[in-house]
Amino acid sequence: MAMLSLCRILSTAAYHPGLAALSARASSVWSHVEMGPPDPILGVTEAFKRDNNPKKMNLGVGAYRDDNGKPYVLNTVRKAEAQIAARKMDKEYLPIAGLPEFNKASAELALGANSEVIKSGRYITVQSISGTGSLRIGASFLQRFYKNSREIYLPKPSWGNHTPIFRDAGMEVKSYCYYDPKNCGFDAAGALEDISKIPEQAVILFHACAHNPTGVDPKTEQWKELAAAVKKRNLLPFFDMAYQGFASGDADRDAWAVRYFLDQGINIILSQSYAKNMGLYGERVGGFTVICSDPDEAKRVESQLKILIRPMYSNPPINGARIATAIMNTPELRKEWLEEVKGMANRIISMREQLVSNLKKEGSIHNWQHVTDQIGMFCFSGLKPEQVERLTKEFSIYMTKDGRISMAGVSSGNVEYLAHAMHQVSK
Ligand code: LMR
Repeated sequence: MAMLSLCRILSTAAYHPGLAALSARASSVWSHVEMGPPDPILGVTEAFKRDNNPKKMNLGVGAYRDDNGKPYVLNTVRKAEAQIAARKMDKEYLPIAGLPEFNKASAELALGANSEVIKSGRYITVQSISGTGSLRIGASFLQRFYKNSREIYLPKPSWGNHTPIFRDAGMEVKSYCYYDPKNCGFDAAGALEDISKIPEQAVILFHACAHNPTGVDPKTEQWKELAAAVKKRNLLPFFDMAYQGFASGDADRDAWAVRYFLDQGINIILSQSYAKNMGLYGERVGGFTVICSDPDEAKRVESQLKILIRPMYSNPPINGARIATAIMNTPELRKEWLEEVKGMANRIISMREQLVSNLKKEGSIHNWQHVTDQIGMFCFSGLKPEQVERLTKEFSIYMTKDGRISMAGVSSGNVEYLAHAMHQVSK
């Protein structure tokens, strides 16, 4: 019977190729697969690439550009690469948990070299495939071992990839109030109110600094209140630190909240990324850390993280971790790197100022103060989806629909054009 219908398809195909394609589609095991939507962030880059307008701007993805609008490779990365090349190292597999020197340096960068946690060895850091990979290891670890709750609470809004990462790993994703659209700032009262109602022992996600997409961070006093509220509800905080150094230009200052929670005796879990602060986007370098109650527990957690990682991707890539380690562990490189991070952060701050002054020059009467108040790579402009659509259609300016502007894509050469376009769609 199957043979007969195959013969029929083949003979029809000889005369009607279109029909053959149709019937082949109908009989395919993948015929039910529907076309999915483009990624809300990376899909913007795809659309940007298709545009031929020479004035086009990609303010979608958070990837740093220099003042000529070009991708930027840090000097210290080039120097570390030269060091590594000169050593003619092999390309053997890394251990499942990654490069041990990297893991140590990464934990120290986040927690501080003098941290009690580091000194007592009650933590485990594993190398990850940048921030996303780290969050995904964390999500799977929670799903398998965190028996106290299935729920994770994200700030509203949060990075677009947080929800699918935790949902795909089997967590139940909920949210707590974070951003106040009225003043384009942090809604401290709303956050505390919501947190006070989160079921005890649930997981709560915080952006350690440079909140994505809003660029709005709690102030020191507000972090203290958040820590107290977390302690009261006995929540498990998951810190996502993708921008250490990028918010203030100072890596220690940007890690303040993480270290404060630890000082309060709260055992957090932590994701780190070196995509932005070292510009190692495509190298995929990150870390995942669990703070434990003692070194023995840390060893057991490590063993289970390895069991989780091995079937996912076996072991992480070696090159980026070597670069990051060389930078963190060579004193002159480390010093120069921290200056480079500051330089990137400062260029973005100056673009915020220039954008606002150009909007004023254009005659905009809106209050754009939030553009300079917000920090990190992004500006949550307050532009509505219709206005974003006009920016794209009429000016070839690409950004995510929520009005998030990647300030890293703004330069002295295009800031006037951006201000002009923003004024045209918002006046
Ligand atoms: C962003 O938010 O643009 C970056 O974190 C890049 C990404 O992977 O989404």
